[in-house]
Amino acid sequence: MTVGTSGFSIAGYPKAVPTALARRAEKGERIKITLITGASVGDEIDGQLARAGVIARRYPYQSNKSMRDLINDNEIAYVDMHLSQVPFFIKNGYFGKIDVAVIEAIGIDEQGNIIPSTSIGCSNTLVEYAEKVIVEVNMWQPVKLEGIHDVYSPGRIKQTEMIPVVLPNNRVGMPYIRCSPDKIAAVVITEIPDGTASLAKTDENSQKMADYLIKFIEDEVAAGRLPRDLPPIQSGVGNVANAVLGGFQKSNFRNLTVYSEVLQDAVLDLIETERVAFASGTALTLSPERIDEFYKALDMFKHKLFLRPVEISCSPEVVRRLGLIAINTAIEVDLAGNVNSTHIGGDRIMNGIGGSGDFARNAALPVFTTPSTAKNGTISCIVPHVSHVDHTEHDAHVIITEYGLADLRCKTAYERAELLIENCAHPRFRPALREFVARQYAKKGHRHGFAPEDLILWQQAVDEINAAESAPAKPAKAKKKKS
Ligand code: COA
Repeated sequence: MTVGTSGFSIAGYPKAVPTALARRAEKGERIKITLITGASVGDEIDGQLARAGVIARRYPYQSNKSMRDLINDNEIAYVDMHLSQVPFFIKNGYFGKIDVAVIEAIGIDEQGNIIPSTSIGCSNTLVEYAEKVIVEVNMWQPVKLEGIHDVYSPGRIKQTEMIPVVLPNNRVGMPYIRCSPDKIAAVVITEIPDGTASLAKTDENSQKMADYLIKFIEDEVAAGRLPRDLPPIQSGVGNVANAVLGGFQKSNFRNLTVYSEVLQDAVLDLIETERVAFASGTALTLSPERIDEFYKALDMFKHKLFLRPVEISCSPEVVRRLGLIAINTAIEVDLAGNVNSTHIGGDRIMNGIGGSGDFARNAALPVFTTPSTAKNGTISCIVPHVSHVDHTEHDAHVIITEYGLADLRCKTAYERAELLIENCAHPRFRPALREFVARQYAKKGHRHGFAPEDLILWQQAVDEINAAESAPAKPAKAKKKKS
């Protein structure tokens, strides 16, 4: 079967039905499904079901260790997609027939209208196109969430109309997902929390990246390239993204708006301190430490938040119209400005592109942040060529590491390389990067890009640097700095 479930960034996904399915498979029943979700879901689905051998094919995003390992071992076929495109694929039949949609809800009424819980993702489209719908009503999720949702569903090709969001707080849809009662195969009552993880505390590097970002935005405002009342901000997923967005806490900006995909802890902090007046997303992915406080203050937050279908929250049309400042995280960035956000070493998937491509390609100011190195300083995140391209050099305008910021706008390939090396690369890797550029220039004599044939020399240079300075060199350096 092809099964679609609700869930996005570990929020609002069904828990009881997948657990029951995993138990059946563990008892020896042969069950295989193709699984489509809004984005990543909790261990009940991407962990349990994957480990029980139930998932044969997976679209469009995941972030679970078991799922990731099985994908990288070729046990599960995985297709990484722009998340805004998933509803379009469902509507136009690219995935084939959707047999069942399993949707977590805080309630369902007698007309069949489903009130989603902490995410929407592509639930509305799954409900519309699936043959049958199973609703998991989760009593753990507060019923007071009702009203936070704004469900607008564009039609299929040629019946699409303008998405009428011109400000993040424009309500354009319904507070529930319409569903014909005949489609509802079962209603399951559960009381299981979302499996969101704790976020790492803001470290020194993230704080520095946040400071560079805020200073850059202030300078852009002063130069008249950004309005004082900033356009809406989008922020990516993960620890770094949460910490960098949190940097607005120390800024003088007020009355900000957020038009994003995932709303993490930092967004709530910014609402509480009145930096952010309104936030729109498709998922509320709050750490276990933050969620209780959120629910206690839900009456206040409720008027400052919308959850929307991913087709709206990541819509290229809306992102372009609102002129977003889009801040996402890179795994590595190359000297031309191409960004890899999904693969380690070129051939092992980490999570997926998520909505970062929808935002970066269409935002007014696409920014990528990354620590300058990974794995105890042994890997440079600024490299001659990325091992996998998610965002091309045309879609990454500003790169920030803990060493500084490179504004790549209106710069040639070699100007970009210089900025990235001198402002963003870790000093340990700068000489080898400079040498790479000098060698390319001497050999090719022109400045329109980098030929890939010398990449082997770059890898040799990295091996030599790591051999000369043993791996613990990085922590020792960090200690010195602190003292
Ligand atoms: N080489 C090897 N490993 C690297 C690396 C590199 N250049 N850069 C990062 N890593 C590893 C880290 O060491 C860490 O490994 P670990 O899990 O074994 O500790 C892992 O990648 C994650 O890095 P971390 O620094 O913890 O970052 P994060 O939690 O902020 O996540 C991304 C960063 C890029 C993985 C995450 O933001 C992502 O999946 N982005 C793509 C989707 C997206 O942007 N969605 C938002 C759109 S709205």
